[in-house]
Amino acid sequence: MLGEILPYLRCPGCTGTDLRAGAAGVSCKSCGAQYPLQGGVLDWLATDRSEVITPFQRVMQTPVVVSIYERLWRRLGYFIASSRQFEKEVQTIVGFQQQCETGRLLDLACGTGVFTRPLARKARGLVVGFDLSRPMLRHAQRLIERDGVKNVLLMRGTAFRLPFIAGAFPAINCCGALHLFDRPELALREIDRVLDRSGHLSVQTTIRPAHSGGAAYFLERFIRFGFFDETGLREQVRLHRLKILESERHRISFSFLARHISP
Ligand SMILES: C[S@@+](CC[C@H](N)C(=O)[O-])C[C@H]1O[C@@H](n2cnc3c(N)ncnc32)[C@H](O)[C@@H]1O
Ligand SMILES: [Zn+2]
Repeated sequence: MLGEILPYLRCPGCTGTDLRAGAAGVSCKSCGAQYPLQGGVLDWLATDRSEVITPFQRVMQTPVVVSIYERLWRRLGYFIASSRQFEKEVQTIVGFQQQCETGRLLDLACGTGVFTRPLARKARGLVVGFDLSRPMLRHAQRLIERDGVKNVLLMRGTAFRLPFIAGAFPAINCCGALHLFDRPELALREIDRVLDRSGHLSVQTTIRPAHSGGAAYFLERFIRFGFFDETGLREQVRLHRLKILESERHRISFSFLARHISP
């Protein structure tokens, strides 16, 4: 699988594209950086300590949260946000992506792979599950093996410096994460860069509740769980050359399918 994605990789350190892949991982011929492949996860941040870890991100990396994430945490969180079952959201996202002719797909901030696996089962090509958290990715690898999904390659890195060349993916998915990123505008800029000119992006995120009795303020201020304003998000998406084709709003959960438009 590493061989298949190699032509689309770019060194996150020096942005060079002369990369070599082997059993131990990927190395950059331009700057000499080594990116190890460990337990099925290609680690772009093995020697990088500069990434900002928000308080919410720290909580989500704890072993107990990782272990209950898929069965309980995500389902309950989604139900509170939307008043509907999480399975319906998975169907929405898989349905969005199925409308598009996809080959390679990037599942950005894949977590334990709760969307990665169903997307991979329907995809015709390789699916890259990409996340910042080692514990999440380790768990994702176990679930991928358990489910016998063969076309997923996991990578650890940051959404703010994607290790891919421009236009590398005809399809990107990013669920439950855009509002948690420390710098969502930087992630959108990277999505714009690595998405193919006529590629598609599917997203599930959260919109700030109109009345939350101070809960939204607390979440944003103290643990950096963010919310978007729907108009503002639509504008940001448009500024990154993405046209929303379809969207669904379920209380404060907002999902959309967008197409990249050439300048
Ligand atoms: C709530 S989880 C969403 C996981 C999954 N996509 C889902 O929908 O359930 C958010 C994920 O974003 C990841 N994340 C946070 N900051 C990131 C960054 N800068 N780059 C890549 N992933 C990041 C976290 O590690 C976490 O797994
Ligand atoms: Zn390099």
